[in-house]
Amino acid sequence: QELKLSLEQIEKSGYEHFMLKEIFEQPKSIHDTMRGRLLVEEGVIKMAGIWDYIEKFKNANRIIIIACGTSWHAGLIGEYLIEEYARIPVEVEYASEFRYRNPIITDKDVVIAISQSGETADTMAALKLAKEKGAFIYGICNVVDSSIARITDAGSYTHAGPEIGVASTKAFTAQLTILTLIAFKLGKHNGNLGNAEFMSLIAELDAIPKKIEEVLDSTHELVQNIAKDFVNATNFLYLGRGYNYPAALEGALKLKEISYIHAEGYPAAEMKHGPIALIDENMPIVIIAPKKGHYDKIVSNVQEIKARKGKVISVVNCGDTQVSEISDYVIEIPETSECFSPIVASVPLQLLAYYIAVYRGANVDQPRNLAKSVTVE
Ligand code: G6P
Repeated sequence: QELKLSLEQIEKSGYEHFMLKEIFEQPKSIHDTMRGRLLVEEGVIKMAGIWDYIEKFKNANRIIIIACGTSWHAGLIGEYLIEEYARIPVEVEYASEFRYRNPIITDKDVVIAISQSGETADTMAALKLAKEKGAFIYGICNVVDSSIARITDAGSYTHAGPEIGVASTKAFTAQLTILTLIAFKLGKHNGNLGNAEFMSLIAELDAIPKKIEEVLDSTHELVQNIAKDFVNATNFLYLGRGYNYPAALEGALKLKEISYIHAEGYPAAEMKHGPIALIDENMPIVIIAPKKGHYDKIVSNVQEIKARKGKVISVVNCGDTQVSEISDYVIEIPETSECFSPIVASVPLQLLAYYIAVYRGANVDQPRNLAKSVTVE
């Protein structure tokens, strides 16, 4: 027992929990995931799994992304990425829903499965079904040689390294990195992403690990302090638009998983169709509002929240004024193209969930009732 404990301490390399360590590992895990694939100087994205089957992707009627949990959120962002840059229609499905509703699948479909563990039973079963119906199956897994990685026709591993904390953090941003690379590669190949834009996007992607490092440095203490004020919250709303709508879902999931506070993510524009009824002085609302991406619309959402006395925690770009002025708490992140903003914005939201859970005395790495890999249906 003692030996096990000290080994665990070594593995945590000075961090109090695996989750915090993994949050801080993200500059490296994103970099590792891009290494050998993103060749900025040459202006090339190298992905053998995509390249060997490029005709499959080129001729695909649509791409269906299948996943569960956090990986499903990554899939939603993948939909925005692939549709915007490669102009291929994408559907994102919960594996458990997909497999039980007699889905229409043909051999003109490409199915992308996203799974950190590569062992999720529902995702596995959904893939078997899609394979039987003739679809081409691509895997995005973190665990090498996992069951899902083995049944796919091709794939790209996320090189996030072992993720021990049950709540997924670095695997999520690594999944987003792979999906970004796939979207850019397909778009460049099929001519929907012009060379100049491609070059500037990949240069920006290359700089993301550095930006994450900045975010960790500049927001760590601040978020810790914000968390103290919300230890007794009973509900939370997370709002975002466009690429940051799935980031809002993921922010809410992180909080509920580890702090046991009820939290919901919503597309900001849907606020008026329900959640606005919940807003009063006791409702904390996290708003993801970077400059690029429907900013003006978000400003009016924040005004509506403040008119009802909701407590606003906003994630904005450095130097922001409009949303910041009317927010109760402001977390600044560096500006990026909209497509990268969920990667950057997710980091302070992971920290917020982490610290709220820690201050509530919760078991952050092993939250009650949850498992790291769900091998039952
Ligand atoms: C469990 C984990 C989540 C994870 C989900 C999907 O619920 O607790 O963190 O997102 O399974 O797992 P996968 O390994 O397929 O990505």
